[in-house]
Amino acid sequence: MDTVERAAALRQYAEETSMCTRCALANGRTQVVFGSGSPDAELMFVGEAPGFHEDQQGVPFVGQAGKLLDELLGGIGLTRADVFVANVLKCRPPGNRDPQPEEIASCEPHLFRQIELIQPQLVATLGNFATKLLSGKPAGITRVHGYEQEVTLGARTVLLYPLYHPAAALYTPSMLKVLEEDFARIPALLDRSVEEPAAADEIPAAVLRPEPESVQLGLF
Ligand code: URA
Repeated sequence: MDTVERAAALRQYAEETSMCTRCALANGRTQVVFGSGSPDAELMFVGEAPGFHEDQQGVPFVGQAGKLLDELLGGIGLTRADVFVANVLKCRPPGNRDPQPEEIASCEPHLFRQIELIQPQLVATLGNFATKLLSGKPAGITRVHGYEQEVTLGARTVLLYPLYHPAAALYTPSMLKVLEEDFARIPALLDRSVEEPAAADEIPAAVLRPEPESVQLGLF
């Protein structure tokens, strides 16, 4: 697919998704928050779910966490127009509660189709929900952040790069520092082709961090 075809296909899919009634979140939403950015992005971010502002504006990461995401991108010489940003859930959960397993299951075909159409090299997952969904593994973000891993999503192999969720880092300076350090590796990861065998399929047990209790919290 060339650039024009890809943009058209993504636009058409966004239109279809705007009428989605696959789960009960359709009843409470202002609108579906499909995602935004470049249809040709090499780098895609996947967050958790729209919050109040995203639901109002129809664009992901427009609140405080979004401002931090913009700053982090700026730190590696990128803007939102260079990347594509989406969420595990396309509709806001009431009161910003955690996504429920049945909501994730209902919504995941949308995310997988987005990845299939955009064909990014690198998918950076923000927080636990996106990381667990796309890695297919239960290890929480505190253990796996900063470790890239090759995953096969549909017909495509991408490099998955788990990061702390910016909303979690907003109020925890030590976590922000780690997020900045992990972010700083993104340019080098983008230069690395997925064909190269450098990224381990499995994170070696020796480097897996111990799982703290806080990992049960959604954002960590
Ligand atoms: N947090 C997310 O995970 N996604 C958004 O779009 C906004 C905040």
